[in-house]
Amino acid sequence: MKIDLSTTIGPNQFSNPLINAAGVWDETALELDELVASTAGGVTTKSATLEPRSGNQRPRYADVALGSINSMGLPNQGLKYYLDYVTTHDASKPIDLSIANPNPMDNLTALQMIQDSSFQGLTELNLSCPNVIGKPQIGYDLAALKQILQQAFKLFTKPLGIKLPPYFDLQQFDAVADILNQFPLTFINTINSVGNGLLVDPASERTLIEPKGGFGGIGGAYVKPVALANVHAFRSRLKPTIKIIGTGGVRNGTDVFELILCGADAVSVGTTLMQAGPQLFTKLQDELIQLMVQKHYPSLATFRNQLKAAH
Ligand code: SIN
Repeated sequence: MKIDLSTTIGPNQFSNPLINAAGVWDETALELDELVASTAGGVTTKSATLEPRSGNQRPRYADVALGSINSMGLPNQGLKYYLDYVTTHDASKPIDLSIANPNPMDNLTALQMIQDSSFQGLTELNLSCPNVIGKPQIGYDLAALKQILQQAFKLFTKPLGIKLPPYFDLQQFDAVADILNQFPLTFINTINSVGNGLLVDPASERTLIEPKGGFGGIGGAYVKPVALANVHAFRSRLKPTIKIIGTGGVRNGTDVFELILCGADAVSVGTTLMQAGPQLFTKLQDELIQLMVQKHYPSLATFRNQLKAAH
Protein backbone atom coordinates (compact mmCIF):
# COMPACT_ATOMS: atom_id res chain seq x y z
CA MET A 1 0.00 0.00 0.00
CA LYS A 2 1.42 3.39 -0.99
CA ILE A 3 1.34 5.85 1.91
CA ASP A 4 1.35 9.61 1.34
CA LEU A 5 2.52 11.61 4.38
CA SER A 6 2.46 15.00 2.67
CA THR A 7 0.68 17.98 4.16
CA THR A 8 0.39 21.70 3.49
CA ILE A 9 0.41 24.80 5.65
CA GLY A 10 -0.34 27.95 3.68
CA PRO A 11 1.73 27.89 0.50
CA ASN A 12 4.25 25.44 2.02
CA GLN A 13 4.19 21.78 1.02
CA PHE A 14 5.71 19.38 3.57
CA SER A 15 6.79 15.88 2.48
CA ASN A 16 5.73 14.63 5.91
CA PRO A 17 4.08 16.27 8.93
CA LEU A 18 7.04 16.22 11.32
CA ILE A 19 8.87 19.36 12.48
CA ASN A 20 11.04 20.22 15.47
CA ALA A 21 9.33 22.32 18.14
CA ALA A 22 10.85 25.80 18.41
CA GLY A 23 13.72 25.74 20.86
CA VAL A 24 14.85 22.19 20.21
CA TRP A 25 17.97 21.50 18.09
CA ASP A 26 17.61 24.85 16.36
CA GLU A 27 19.70 27.52 18.07
CA THR A 28 22.79 27.42 15.86
CA ALA A 29 23.37 27.05 12.12
CA LEU A 30 25.06 23.71 12.86
CA GLU A 31 21.95 22.34 14.58
CA LEU A 32 19.68 23.78 11.89
CA ASP A 33 21.85 22.12 9.21
CA GLU A 34 21.33 18.79 11.01
CA LEU A 35 17.57 19.28 10.96
CA VAL A 36 17.62 20.25 7.28
CA ALA A 37 19.65 17.08 6.58
CA SER A 38 17.27 14.90 8.64
CA THR A 39 14.02 13.33 7.43
CA ALA A 40 11.92 16.02 9.18
CA GLY A 41 9.25 17.48 6.90
CA GLY A 42 10.10 21.03 7.95
CA VAL A 43 12.40 22.98 10.24
CA THR A 44 11.58 25.57 12.92
CA THR A 45 14.19 28.06 14.09
CA LYS A 46 14.74 28.96 17.76
CA SER A 47 12.37 31.76 18.81
CA ALA A 48 14.36 34.88 18.04
CA THR A 49 14.45 38.19 19.82
CA LEU A 50 15.70 41.36 18.10
CA GLU A 51 19.02 41.16 19.92
CA PRO A 52 20.92 37.98 20.92
CA ARG A 53 20.08 36.69 24.43
CA SER A 54 22.01 34.33 26.68
CA GLY A 55 18.84 33.19 28.47
CA ASN A 56 18.29 32.23 32.10
CA GLN A 57 20.77 30.87 34.59
CA ARG A 58 21.65 27.13 34.49
CA PRO A 59 20.50 24.51 35.29
CA ARG A 60 17.54 25.53 33.15
CA TYR A 61 16.47 22.23 31.55
CA ALA A 62 15.91 18.76 33.04
CA ASP A 63 14.56 15.45 31.73
CA VAL A 64 12.53 13.07 33.89
CA ALA A 65 10.79 9.79 33.04
CA LEU A 66 7.52 11.42 31.95
CA GLY A 67 8.89 14.52 30.23
CA SER A 68 10.89 17.65 30.86
CA ILE A 69 10.96 21.01 32.56
CA ASN A 70 12.62 24.07 31.08
CA SER A 71 13.15 27.69 31.85
CA MET A 72 15.54 28.52 29.05
CA GLY A 73 14.60 32.20 28.88
CA LEU A 74 14.86 32.49 25.09
CA PRO A 75 18.60 32.03 24.57
CA ASN A 76 19.10 32.80 20.88
CA GLN A 77 21.46 34.43 18.40
CA GLY A 78 19.14 37.32 17.49
CA LEU A 79 16.74 37.65 14.58
CA LYS A 80 19.33 38.78 12.04
CA TYR A 81 21.23 35.49 12.48
CA TYR A 82 18.14 33.36 11.77
CA LEU A 83 16.96 35.62 8.96
CA ASP A 84 20.41 35.30 7.34
CA TYR A 85 20.25 31.54 7.79
CA VAL A 86 16.81 31.09 6.24
CA THR A 87 17.47 33.43 3.33
CA THR A 88 20.89 32.06 2.39
CA HIS A 89 20.68 28.33 3.07
CA ASP A 90 19.40 25.50 0.93
CA ALA A 91 15.62 25.71 1.07
CA SER A 92 15.06 21.99 0.49
CA LYS A 93 12.25 21.91 3.06
CA PRO A 94 9.82 24.46 4.48
CA ILE A 95 11.10 26.74 7.22
CA ASP A 96 9.07 28.04 10.15
CA LEU A 97 10.85 31.17 11.41
CA SER A 98 9.94 31.67 15.07
CA ILE A 99 10.08 35.02 16.84
CA ALA A 100 9.37 35.85 20.49
CA ASN A 101 9.95 39.28 21.91
CA PRO A 102 9.24 40.06 25.55
CA ASN A 103 8.39 43.64 24.48
CA PRO A 104 5.38 43.54 22.09
CA MET A 105 6.66 46.53 20.08
CA ASP A 106 9.81 44.53 19.28
CA ASN A 107 7.59 41.85 17.74
CA LEU A 108 6.30 44.43 15.29
CA THR A 109 9.85 45.50 14.43
CA ALA A 110 10.76 41.83 13.94
CA LEU A 111 7.75 41.27 11.67
CA GLN A 112 8.70 44.34 9.62
CA MET A 113 12.25 42.95 9.18
CA ILE A 114 10.82 39.64 7.95
CA GLN A 115 8.31 41.41 5.71
CA ASP A 116 11.15 43.41 4.12
CA SER A 117 13.35 40.33 3.60
CA SER A 118 13.27 37.75 0.82
CA PHE A 119 12.07 35.02 3.25
CA GLN A 120 9.12 33.13 1.76
CA GLY A 121 8.41 30.52 4.46
CA LEU A 122 6.17 30.53 7.52
CA THR A 123 6.60 32.96 10.39
CA GLU A 124 5.58 31.80 13.87
CA LEU A 125 4.94 34.52 16.45
CA ASN A 126 5.49 32.93 19.85
CA LEU A 127 2.99 34.44 22.28
CA SER A 128 3.43 31.80 24.94
CA CYS A 129 6.94 31.57 26.39
CA PRO A 130 6.48 31.10 30.15
CA ASN A 131 10.13 31.71 30.99
CA VAL A 132 10.92 35.37 30.54
CA ILE A 133 11.37 36.64 34.07
CA GLY A 134 8.83 39.37 34.90
CA LYS A 135 6.87 39.00 31.64
CA PRO A 136 3.45 37.31 31.34
CA GLN A 137 2.42 35.03 28.48
CA ILE A 138 0.53 37.23 25.97
CA GLY A 139 -1.62 34.25 24.98
CA TYR A 140 -3.34 34.43 28.38
CA ASP A 141 -4.17 38.14 28.06
CA LEU A 142 -6.92 38.19 25.44
CA ALA A 143 -6.95 41.97 24.99
CA ALA A 144 -3.18 41.96 24.38
CA LEU A 145 -3.55 38.97 22.03
CA LYS A 146 -6.11 40.82 19.91
CA GLN A 147 -4.04 44.00 19.92
CA ILE A 148 -0.84 42.34 18.73
CA LEU A 149 -2.73 40.58 15.92
CA GLN A 150 -4.36 43.86 14.84
CA GLN A 151 -0.98 45.56 14.75
CA ALA A 152 0.78 42.61 13.10
CA PHE A 153 -1.64 42.32 10.19
CA LYS A 154 -1.40 46.03 9.45
CA LEU A 155 2.19 45.53 8.34
CA PHE A 156 2.66 41.81 7.65
CA THR A 157 1.33 40.13 4.51
CA LYS A 158 3.39 36.91 4.50
CA PRO A 159 2.06 33.61 5.97
CA LEU A 160 1.82 34.13 9.74
CA GLY A 161 1.02 31.75 12.58
CA ILE A 162 1.09 32.04 16.36
CA LYS A 163 2.34 29.70 19.06
CA LEU A 164 -0.25 29.47 21.81
CA PRO A 165 -0.05 28.44 25.43
CA PRO A 166 -2.30 25.58 26.56
CA TYR A 167 -5.86 26.52 27.54
CA PHE A 168 -7.86 24.49 30.01
CA ASP A 169 -11.38 25.88 30.08
CA LEU A 170 -13.90 25.39 27.26
CA GLN A 171 -14.94 29.04 27.47
CA GLN A 172 -11.32 30.07 26.99
CA PHE A 173 -11.27 28.06 23.74
CA ASP A 174 -14.41 29.89 22.59
CA ALA A 175 -13.00 33.32 23.47
CA VAL A 176 -9.57 32.73 21.93
CA ALA A 177 -11.02 31.18 18.75
CA ASP A 178 -13.39 34.15 18.40
CA ILE A 179 -10.39 36.47 18.32
CA LEU A 180 -8.26 34.29 16.02
CA ASN A 181 -11.08 33.90 13.48
CA GLN A 182 -11.05 37.68 12.94
CA PHE A 183 -7.57 37.52 11.36
CA PRO A 184 -6.02 35.99 8.21
CA LEU A 185 -3.80 33.66 10.25
CA THR A 186 -2.17 30.85 8.27
CA PHE A 187 -1.79 28.57 11.28
CA ILE A 188 -1.65 28.19 15.03
CA ASN A 189 0.85 26.02 16.83
CA THR A 190 -0.64 24.47 19.96
CA ILE A 191 0.62 23.85 22.64
CA ASN A 192 3.70 25.48 24.08
CA SER A 193 4.91 23.89 27.32
CA VAL A 194 2.51 23.88 30.26
CA GLY A 195 3.80 26.93 32.05
CA ASN A 196 5.03 27.10 35.56
CA GLY A 197 5.11 23.54 36.70
CA LEU A 198 7.55 22.45 39.35
CA LEU A 199 9.68 19.30 39.42
CA VAL A 200 11.56 18.40 42.59
CA ASP A 201 14.32 15.99 43.52
CA PRO A 202 13.24 14.29 46.74
CA ALA A 203 16.81 13.19 47.55
CA SER A 204 18.37 16.66 47.53
CA GLU A 205 15.04 18.34 48.33
CA ARG A 206 15.81 20.84 45.56
CA THR A 207 14.05 22.00 42.43
CA LEU A 208 15.40 20.49 39.19
CA ILE A 209 16.04 23.87 37.58
CA GLU A 210 17.33 27.14 38.99
CA PRO A 211 15.46 30.10 37.36
CA LYS A 212 12.27 31.47 38.93
CA GLY A 213 12.70 29.33 42.04
CA GLY A 214 12.34 26.17 39.95
CA PHE A 215 9.12 26.97 38.06
CA GLY A 216 9.23 26.16 34.35
CA GLY A 217 7.46 24.86 31.27
CA ILE A 218 6.49 21.20 31.37
CA GLY A 219 6.77 19.11 28.20
CA GLY A 220 6.78 15.49 27.13
CA ALA A 221 4.35 12.69 28.04
CA TYR A 222 2.92 14.70 30.94
CA VAL A 223 1.29 17.13 28.50
CA LYS A 224 -0.01 14.89 25.71
CA PRO A 225 -3.69 14.94 26.83
CA VAL A 226 -3.53 18.73 27.05
CA ALA A 227 -2.06 18.94 23.53
CA LEU A 228 -4.71 16.61 22.10
CA ALA A 229 -7.45 18.67 23.76
CA ASN A 230 -6.10 21.99 22.50
CA VAL A 231 -5.71 20.71 18.94
CA HIS A 232 -9.20 19.22 18.92
CA ALA A 233 -10.88 22.17 20.63
CA PHE A 234 -9.34 24.66 18.20
CA ARG A 235 -9.99 22.48 15.13
CA SER A 236 -13.71 22.52 15.90
CA ARG A 237 -13.74 26.30 16.51
CA LEU A 238 -11.32 27.83 13.96
CA LYS A 239 -12.17 28.60 10.35
CA PRO A 240 -10.76 25.86 8.08
CA THR A 241 -8.19 28.22 6.49
CA ILE A 242 -6.30 28.36 9.81
CA LYS A 243 -4.15 25.23 9.89
CA ILE A 244 -2.89 23.61 13.10
CA ILE A 245 0.57 22.43 14.10
CA GLY A 246 0.00 20.06 17.03
CA THR A 247 2.75 19.95 19.63
CA GLY A 248 3.04 18.10 22.92
CA GLY A 249 3.95 14.68 24.20
CA VAL A 250 5.00 12.94 20.98
CA ARG A 251 7.14 9.89 21.74
CA ASN A 252 6.12 7.52 18.92
CA GLY A 253 4.19 7.21 15.67
CA THR A 254 0.92 6.53 17.50
CA ASP A 255 1.22 9.89 19.26
CA VAL A 256 1.66 11.58 15.85
CA PHE A 257 -1.40 9.68 14.57
CA GLU A 258 -3.49 10.81 17.56
CA LEU A 259 -2.64 14.50 17.08
CA ILE A 260 -3.62 14.30 13.40
CA LEU A 261 -6.79 12.36 14.30
CA CYS A 262 -7.64 15.27 16.61
CA GLY A 263 -7.18 17.75 13.73
CA ALA A 264 -3.48 18.61 13.40
CA ASP A 265 -2.12 19.39 9.92
CA ALA A 266 1.48 18.97 11.06
CA VAL A 267 3.10 17.79 14.28
CA SER A 268 6.10 19.19 16.08
CA VAL A 269 8.32 17.39 18.56
CA GLY A 270 10.17 18.90 21.51
CA THR A 271 11.21 16.83 24.52
CA THR A 272 11.73 13.53 22.66
CA LEU A 273 13.79 15.28 19.97
CA MET A 274 15.95 16.81 22.70
CA GLN A 275 16.52 13.30 24.10
CA ALA A 276 16.90 11.28 20.88
CA GLY A 277 18.26 13.74 18.30
CA PRO A 278 17.18 14.24 14.67
CA GLN A 279 17.33 10.53 13.76
CA LEU A 280 14.04 10.38 15.71
CA PHE A 281 12.17 11.69 12.66
CA THR A 282 12.81 8.49 10.66
CA LYS A 283 11.59 6.31 13.54
CA LEU A 284 8.41 8.38 13.96
CA GLN A 285 7.66 8.21 10.23
CA ASP A 286 8.25 4.44 10.11
CA GLU A 287 5.91 3.92 13.07
CA LEU A 288 3.25 6.23 11.62
CA ILE A 289 3.39 4.47 8.22
CA GLN A 290 3.12 1.05 9.91
CA LEU A 291 -0.01 2.17 11.78
CA MET A 292 -1.56 3.72 8.65
CA VAL A 293 -0.96 0.48 6.70
CA GLN A 294 -2.63 -1.55 9.49
CA LYS A 295 -5.60 0.82 9.46
CA HIS A 296 -5.76 1.12 5.64
CA TYR A 297 -5.29 4.89 5.61
CA PRO A 298 -3.35 5.92 2.45
CA SER A 299 -2.93 9.59 3.41
CA LEU A 300 -3.16 11.92 6.42
CA ALA A 301 -6.33 13.48 5.00
CA THR A 302 -8.16 10.13 5.30
CA PHE A 303 -8.07 10.24 9.11
CA ARG A 304 -7.37 13.89 9.99
CA ASN A 305 -9.95 15.32 12.41
CA GLN A 306 -11.95 12.07 12.31
CA LEU A 307 -11.98 11.54 16.09
CA LYS A 308 -15.22 9.93 17.26
CA ALA A 309 -16.74 10.12 20.73
CA ALA A 310 -16.87 7.02 22.96
CA HIS A 311 -20.25 5.36 23.30
C1 SIN B 1 12.48 29.35 26.33
O1 SIN B 1 13.43 29.73 25.63
O2 SIN B 1 12.34 29.72 27.50
C2 SIN B 1 11.49 28.38 25.76
C3 SIN B 1 10.70 28.98 24.68
C4 SIN B 1 9.23 28.90 24.88
O3 SIN B 1 8.76 28.28 25.85
O4 SIN B 1 8.51 29.47 24.09
